[in-house]
Amino acid sequence: MTFVTRGLVSAGIFVAMGLPAFAQTEVKIGYALAPDSHYGVAAAKFEEVVKAETGDDFEFKHFPSSGLGGEREVIEGLQLGTIEATIVSSGTLANFVPDTGVFDIPFLFRDLDHARAVLDGPIGQDILAKFDAVGLKGLAWGEQGFRHITNNRNPINTPEDVESLKIRTMENPVHLAAFNAMGAAPTPMAWPEVISSLQQGVIDGQENPLSVIVSVKLDEVQKYLTLSGHVYSPAMLLVSKPFWEGLDDEQKAAFEKAAEEAVTAMRAYVDNVETTGVETLKERGMQVNELSAEQKAAFQESIASAYEGYYETYGKDLVDSIVNFE
Ligand code: PAF
Repeated sequence: MTFVTRGLVSAGIFVAMGLPAFAQTEVKIGYALAPDSHYGVAAAKFEEVVKAETGDDFEFKHFPSSGLGGEREVIEGLQLGTIEATIVSSGTLANFVPDTGVFDIPFLFRDLDHARAVLDGPIGQDILAKFDAVGLKGLAWGEQGFRHITNNRNPINTPEDVESLKIRTMENPVHLAAFNAMGAAPTPMAWPEVISSLQQGVIDGQENPLSVIVSVKLDEVQKYLTLSGHVYSPAMLLVSKPFWEGLDDEQKAAFEKAAEEAVTAMRAYVDNVETTGVETLKERGMQVNELSAEQKAAFQESIASAYEGYYETYGKDLVDSIVNFE
């Protein structure tokens, strides 16, 4: 009996036993937030579309709420080929593809439409393609919304109110430079440590978009929310390069389509929480400080010195072309 006929006979035996004849390929997908968050919704849509396009080729295993570790560890897992897929913030992405950091510059984007147009346009797509060179396949840019400051020390209306505030930032040099310029005492920290550090008073505050503040219920550990909107928070849907290279062309097309639909679902979630989130957090007891245009301008002014560094790292032309992108 040849190798092929032996395979067919054993497939027949499996079918007769009611077991699947061929093994499905496992897709472990890890993300930092809960199944009912913008990441969870996107991951579910991703799976749904891949399955609709490929039938039984793939079996998804979801690891929400940092079940596979912090975002940096998960991305490293993708590089090693031990994890197949993830949805991550831009927190540690610049450690893998330094150019990504340009999108983390505070006060860069006017609004969500501006950010989405840049990420989906040539500047965003060029940077996405650079993940190929570091053992990763960037499928699409997603998003979390604009980041706002929460804390337990005092209401924040001016940059002076942030002085010496022990604020957790992502492990992201662009954000770190901005909070240093503002006069805060920033502490970069991986997300899985944040809630316990807030509970123990190791840090006074943190910053994240409404999508995260609402879905994680940060109101349970934070009293004040300031709608600073100081920086846009991109996200990315990534798969492991070794995994990607094992797919045939039809499967690759299915994953690309699934990523596009996952991003549409994620952006719809963000649109919704941007409209309803503040009310939800007020109802849950948070004290919310809105900032006037002048107050926001004062925060922008407070980080002017950091901009010199950003121009040096990313080039003023690139920064200007993003700011002026229509
Ligand atoms: O603050 C962060 O690290 C990120 O925004 C989070 C919450 C892990 C989502 O990607």
